Amino acid sequence: MTMHSATLAINETIRARRAAGEKVLHLGFGEAGLPVPDDIAAVLSSAAGRNAYGPVVGEEAARAAAAGWFTRRGVATGPEQVLFGPGSKALLFALLAALPGDVVLPCPAWVSYAAQAALVGKRVVDVPVPAAAGGVPDPALLEDALAAARADGARPGVLILTVPDNPTGTVAHEADVRAVCAIAERHGLVVISDEIYAEVLHPSPAADGVAKVPHPSPATDGAAEALTADHLASHDATEVLPANLTSHDATEVLPANLASHDATEVLPANLTSDSAAEVPQSPSAAGGAVAPRRAPSPVHHLPERTIVTSGLSKSMALGGWRIGFARVPAGAWGARLMRDLTGVASEIWSSLAAPMQAAAAHILADPPEVRAYIDAARRLHGTVARAVHAEFTAAGAHCRAPEAGFYLYPDFEPLRPVLAGRSVTTGAELAGALLAEHGVGVLAGAAFGDAPEGLRARVATSLLYGDTADERWAALRSPDPLSLPWIEASLTHLREALTALTAPTRDH
Ligand SMILES: Cc1ncc(COP(=O)(O)O)c(C=O)c1O
Repeated sequence: MTMHSATLAINETIRARRAAGEKVLHLGFGEAGLPVPDDIAAVLSSAAGRNAYGPVVGEEAARAAAAGWFTRRGVATGPEQVLFGPGSKALLFALLAALPGDVVLPCPAWVSYAAQAALVGKRVVDVPVPAAAGGVPDPALLEDALAAARADGARPGVLILTVPDNPTGTVAHEADVRAVCAIAERHGLVVISDEIYAEVLHPSPAADGVAKVPHPSPATDGAAEALTADHLASHDATEVLPANLTSHDATEVLPANLASHDATEVLPANLTSDSAAEVPQSPSAAGGAVAPRRAPSPVHHLPERTIVTSGLSKSMALGGWRIGFARVPAGAWGARLMRDLTGVASEIWSSLAAPMQAAAAHILADPPEVRAYIDAARRLHGTVARAVHAEFTAAGAHCRAPEAGFYLYPDFEPLRPVLAGRSVTTGAELAGALLAEHGVGVLAGAAFGDAPEGLRARVATSLLYGDTADERWAALRSPDPLSLPWIEASLTHLREALTALTAPTRDH
């Protein structure tokens, strides 16, 4: 039987320990940790009367909004290519149920892919990720791994990529995405591109004074190519912005809460300056691609065989609202897949809750206050993830620098001798010692398919923003969130825990 998902399980364990009065630093769960803006709550509440079952694929308005959302991001999409579901997790499951063949995964990979594959009777072929960034199999290893899997009786049919990635918090390089797509094409694999973190790329610390490069509308001249090739290849700090969005007035684009919680308080510099400039005036006025830099996507390299999944759990911190959507390719193959997915959906969830579809239609139209909220969140995620990264590297762990989302994947291998002196020789023992002896909850790498003996763990940083909505708003609005007492205290807790864990024992 499938086990309780490791991420949900640790969330419950830590909550129980906290309820029992223990001081536990919750770095175990990938919840965005931000409050719901008033205007978004109002959209949901005004749709509360919509109690009829809706179309399985999603309501027309929501599908049209999602199609526009993709199109503004350089991926021309029609409403008929979009399927809504209760979270992208459910959609991923429907895809694995509908698509033939075994599943090829980067290693490490998000916990649920392998568990879902097992539920539908598929084997998993794990391929290590490149050293630079996670979310894709190392192209240098993929071909051989496919051959070995075939020799072992597997029938690889589906390749899942996570761009940007959970658990590593990094963004695969464009060249690696292109290379694995070429291999997928040669081997007849379908690609599922899990892009749930695509809206949560961190602005680089230098991006406050970032160059803004106008580019033309994808609808007219294939800006998707320009976006991927020119702006994404090095995924540096260069952000792209339609020319018509650069002069927008900051005061018009604040989420109601950001402005109203404390009207007299000045806005964080990072909300008044460049985030405002990145916000489309309105979806229709924008008419082009949506602003900040974008992660590479296989949809540009293997358009006819790539399914994209996404949702509002991470960018809008609406995990509990369970809004997910998938985009199937245009054309006959995509239409057949949509029919199959609709069949699965019709027998499991019937349709996304109707009030949630109203919320989705609103948010996916990219209104300015939504863009401002997402931009503020991206900054907060980046700032806190970088601070936590600094604690792990200062303690001597190896760790890729965070680029998106709210995750880190430290490797304590350089500290193996000292950890062995404390009887910590596996990832599970590392996570166990951190929780039991130092009140720090992380998830061992084995939950992500990594080798059990690897001294690696997934660290989620987003629950540090605060325990209450007020604290979380304050974190989102603060020009210096690291100086907020509760975030500062958490970083101190982590520093002390890592210092104690890695202090030489008598034998060393
Ligand atoms: C990589 C990845 N994909 C998918 C999901 C599922 O998100 P949801 O079902 O809330 O859309 C998550 C959630 O943690 C995730 O990290």
